[in-house]
This record gives sequence, structure tokens and C-alpha cells, in this order.
Amino acid sequence: MNGKLIVFEGVEGCGKTTQMQLCCQWLQSAGVSVVMTREPGGTELGLHLRRLLLEKSDNKPIAELTELLLYAADRAQHVAQELKPNLARGKFILCDRYTDSTIAYQGYGRGLSMDIINQLNDIATGGLESDLTIWLDVDAEVGLSRKRGEEVGLDRIEQEAIAFHRRVQQGYAELAASQPARIFRVDGSLDKETVQLTIQEILRDRLSSWNKI
Ligand code: TMP
Repeated sequence: MNGKLIVFEGVEGCGKTTQMQLCCQWLQSAGVSVVMTREPGGTELGLHLRRLLLEKSDNKPIAELTELLLYAADRAQHVAQELKPNLARGKFILCDRYTDSTIAYQGYGRGLSMDIINQLNDIATGGLESDLTIWLDVDAEVGLSRKRGEEVGLDRIEQEAIAFHRRVQQGYAELAASQPARIFRVDGSLDKETVQLTIQEILRDRLSSWNKI
């Protein structure tokens, strides 16, 4: 596999979608062949799963284990249909969320077994890890208030209690501390131009070390 998998992670409203788009434009202008994708919902099947996972249905709650398995199913399809083929074609993939989201949300947020989550992540990805993960670090409250300011209402996960979102944030902090070579923290509370310049600096550094390999 010659391509690279770059993942953007963070709590709700951390700005990853905007930053990914800016990054994509920057990379393309430098002649890099980029693919943008996301989880859940990076495939046609995944779009159905995304709707099931995120639409609010008070009378039909999704069991926590079912939620975990649906994210894993979305990932297995995404890896097989999009990530592996594009990496084999040498593409530079920018992916909105990946395995760390499951650790942060279903592991830290829901409190599900990390053993089961790690096993499912392994099964769904066939061992495919990100080459680099950018964690946009924003307080859970700040991120959620950004989301509340948007026209579309909050989805099923965004509507969780603030304590849930704080646990997710804590999960990202612990993940980043435990894997500093793979996960880079970027202060997502700064203005979007500064955040983008910081991300570009990290990527420039990585690109030059990958080119030397
Ligand atoms: P977003 O990608 O638009 O931020 O929305 C995806 C939502 O799904 C977000 O609330 C995080 C959540 N999620 C999980 O709970 N577990 C996962 O494994 C993934 C990929 C996302």
C-alpha cells in the first residue's frame, strides 16, 4: 500500500469537517491526489447506517451493543470498499473519524468493554491503522454550543448529556497521550486559519519524512 490514511478526530463541533476541506484544497493545490471520506457514511451502505445511527427516535432507543456493532459494520464496509482500494491506488485519504471515535464514544462515552471494542476495530479494519490522526482539541461545552448555533437540530449522539461528551473528550486526551507518534493534538479553540496552518505544518513535516522512506 502506497497511499496514506490521515484521520481527523474530536468531539462534536470541533471543526474537523471545515479543517478537512481546507486541507484537501491545500493538498490538491500542491498536486497531491486526495480522497475525502468519513465514518459513518463513507459508502452507500454506510449512508443507510449513518441515518439509523444518528436520527433521533425517542421511542425506539438503540441498545449500546447494537450501536457499537453498527459502527463496526459501517467501518468494515468502508475499509473494504473505499480505504483499502484507494490506498492501493496511492491516494492520500482524509477521513472524518475512524477507530479512535469508537474508543472515545463507545468506550469512554458509553463505558463498553475496551477489549470488545479493540477486537471489533481489528476485525472491521483488518489491522489497518491511520498513518496520522489529527485530534482537534475543543472543550465539549464549546463544541456543543457551536453545534447548537447551526440550523440543523442536534442528532441522537449530540443530544447525549454533557457528562457523556466530557467522557468522550477525556477519551481523546488519554488516547493522544498514549500514542503520541500517531495522534497529534491541535488546539481547535483557535481561529480557523491558525488551526489550518498548524495542521499544514504537521502534514508538511510528515510528508517530507514519508518521502524519505
Ligand atoms: P460526525 O462525523 O458528523 O461528527 O457524526 C458522527 C457521529 O457518530 C458523532 O456523534 C460521533 C459518532 N461516532 C461514534 O459514536 N462512534 C464511531 O465509531 C464513529 C465513527 C462515530
